[in-house]
Parts: sequence; C-alpha cells; structure tokens
Amino acid sequence: MQTISLIQLGLGGVGRSLVRQVLNLRRWHREKYGVRLRYVAVCDSEGAIVSTDGIPDDVLLDALEWKISGKGLKDHPAGYCQNDASAIVDVAGTKETVVVDVTASEETIPALLLAIRRGYGVVLANKKPLTGDMEVYRELKSGQFLRYEATVGSGLPVIATLQRLLRSGDRVCRIEGALSGTLGYLMSCLQDDVPFSEAVRMAYKLGYTEPDPRDDLGGVDVARKALILARDMGYDLNLEDIALDPLYPTGIDGISITRFLEAISALDGKFSRMVKEAFLDEKALRYVASVTEGEIRVGLESVPRSSPLGLLRGSDNLVAYYTSHYDKMPLVIQGRGAGTDATAAGVLADLMEFRGR
Ligand SMILES: NC(=O)c1ccc[n+]([C@@H]2O[C@H](COP(=O)([O-])OP(=O)(O)OC[C@H]3O[C@@H](n4cnc5c(N)ncnc54)[C@H](OP(=O)(O)O)[C@@H]3O)[C@@H](O)[C@H]2O)c1
Repeated sequence: MQTISLIQLGLGGVGRSLVRQVLNLRRWHREKYGVRLRYVAVCDSEGAIVSTDGIPDDVLLDALEWKISGKGLKDHPAGYCQNDASAIVDVAGTKETVVVDVTASEETIPALLLAIRRGYGVVLANKKPLTGDMEVYRELKSGQFLRYEATVGSGLPVIATLQRLLRSGDRVCRIEGALSGTLGYLMSCLQDDVPFSEAVRMAYKLGYTEPDPRDDLGGVDVARKALILARDMGYDLNLEDIALDPLYPTGIDGISITRFLEAISALDGKFSRMVKEAFLDEKALRYVASVTEGEIRVGLESVPRSSPLGLLRGSDNLVAYYTSHYDKMPLVIQGRGAGTDATAAGVLADLMEFRGR
C-alpha cells in the first residue's frame, strides 16, 4: 500500500469538492490501486489545519462546513493563523507529498517552487503559476512530478491529449478552442437572437459569470489557458504577447457592476450585426482562442458553421488539434469545461498519477 500525503492550498468550491471526493473514494483507491490518500495540511488565504500524522476525517469534514458557513480556517478549533504556504510545505512535506494548488492566487508560487526543489509532487488547478514569469514556468516544469490538467477545460483531458500528440512526434500545427463556458453560453444566446446585454444580464443572474462579469468578458482567463497550451507546444510566449480582443471596450472598465450591465446595451447593435453577417456567410460567431506557429489570438471570430467550433452550442468547452495526422478533420475534445466537481475530479485523476513514485 502506498500512502500519498496531500498539502492542499485552497478550500473554495473546487478545494472542498476535492476533499469530499478524496474521502468518499478512499476505499476505491485502496482496493483498486493500492493507494491511500491522506491530508497532512489544508490552507485557505489566512489559515491552515496541519497534522503530519494525517488530519482526521471528522476534522476535515468539519472544516468544510466551517468554510461553507463563511468562516476562515484561522478561526477553526483545529486551525491557526498563517499566510505562508512555504512554511507549511517545509514542515509537513516529505517525498511522499503532493502539493495541490486549488487557489486562484499568485501567492502560492514560492510554496510550489519549494515543493518542486524538494522533489515533491505538484498538482495545479490554478493557472497563474504557469502563465506568469517564464522562469517560474520552466522551474515548475523541471520538477519530477507536475500535473495541471484542470487548468484548461476543467476535467477534460485537454493537456493529456496535447502531451500524447507531442510525445508521438506528431506536429501540432494549430490549436483552436472555445475555452470559456460562460462565453460559449453568450455566443449561443447571440445565435438565438438574444441581445448581447440581455444575455450577459441573464448569465450574471444565473451565476454563470464571475462575480464581476468583466472577468469573463475581458478574455484574460481564456488567454491564460491558451498560453498554457502554447508554452507546452514549446513557444516562449507571455500574456502580453497575446492578441487579446475583449468583449467590451476598456472605457467601461472603472464603473460599478450595475452601471456596467446597463452600459453594455450600447453594444447590442454591433453584436447583432456581426451575428447576421456571419450567418449570411454560412458562419457562426464564436469566442475563439487559437495557437498557431508561435502566435496566440483570443477574441471573436466567424467560424464555418459546419466546423467543430461552429457546431458547438451552449456552455461546453471544445479544443480542436490540427496536426500532421489530424489535418483535415481535427482531433476534438469536447464537454463540460467548468464546475467544481468535474474540476476536482480532474485534479484527483492527476493526483492518482503520483502512484508508484
Ligand atoms: N470553479 C471551476 O469550475 C473551475 C474550473 C477550472 C479551474 N478552476 C480553477 O480552480 C481554482 C479554484 O477555483 P475555485 O472555484 O475553487 O475558487 P474559489 O472558490 O475562489 O477558492 C479559492 C480558494 O483559494 C484560497 N486561497 C486564496 N489565496 C490563497 C493563498 N495564498 N494560500 C492558500 N489559499 C488561498 C481561498 O481562501 P479563502 O477561502 O480564505 O478566500 C479559497 O479557499 C482556480 O484557480 C480556478 O481558476 C475552477
């Protein structure tokens, strides 16, 4: 039986689902794979619970309820105040440790680099460590065990597929993707003649957008995903190199969310015209990330209606790989590209690859 010790940074939606899945699937992992996963540390932004002997299940479950009720780990009976994840990796890490980053923060980078230098495993759902400084990216990639499937397409095997193509020596000429469920939903609404502003307001009310919808409409999250794919293809690119076309003009950046949701009515005519023009050309409007020959573009595109991206409806993600072997018809991965449970399952699958190390 192999024991894998987990240090988990982040106890938000994905982090809590991951803890639940690890506990619920313990017997399955033990009987099927001979692996025991145990938590030695869980952290949020201000606090942590740490036990090098393994945190008891009842304490973990109580910590989840504690977080759901809006309280921080620093105030939990088993927790303490901390904002230095490196110190936790230093104290609780061993060769059997995997550090899991399910935050959306850059502050975890020193802890991740420490884990890599010590030879521990690292699993990320957090895109930021892979999309900032190129040196950090390289050092993380130099580690003995780094997995980050959930950073692009949530639980979909987007990264694994790219790695397989690259390992086989197939030449990946172009990747095209719809990498945001929220923007996919908006594109489908536009195609159904719903005015842009109404579609955004609906998505906001239904909780499909980030708390500030500009975080989706700005396209930066999509750009980060495209950058991860491009860097994996070997391109030495940074976020600033990306031709990024946000869905709203920068002039309405600094206003309140309520005023923003009103102001975007001014964009309805423009988007409606674009959809009609695309339709007359047998095309469909999509928010596309494309990586080609060292260039990344992220923005609105009219794509053939009969193409995989053109046929896409709703909030599914889709990634199409055009390679030497998949030239006319691309290799396509499609499915749900968000959701805390699917994302946590993607992280868990990554964790299980530490088996046998
Ligand atoms: N949700 C999805 O469907 C989805 C899909 C794919 C990928 N992802 C990625 O998965 C990650 C987690 O998403 P989420 O929805 O769970 O986010 P979330 O609900 O905002 O949770 C983030 C967690 O990280 C903690 N945190 C922030 N800074 C920290 C630090 N320096 N050290 C330790 N913990 C810290 C937060 O602490 P507090 O609780 O104290 O604020 C919170 O518990 C993100 O990077 C996201 O982009 C999410």
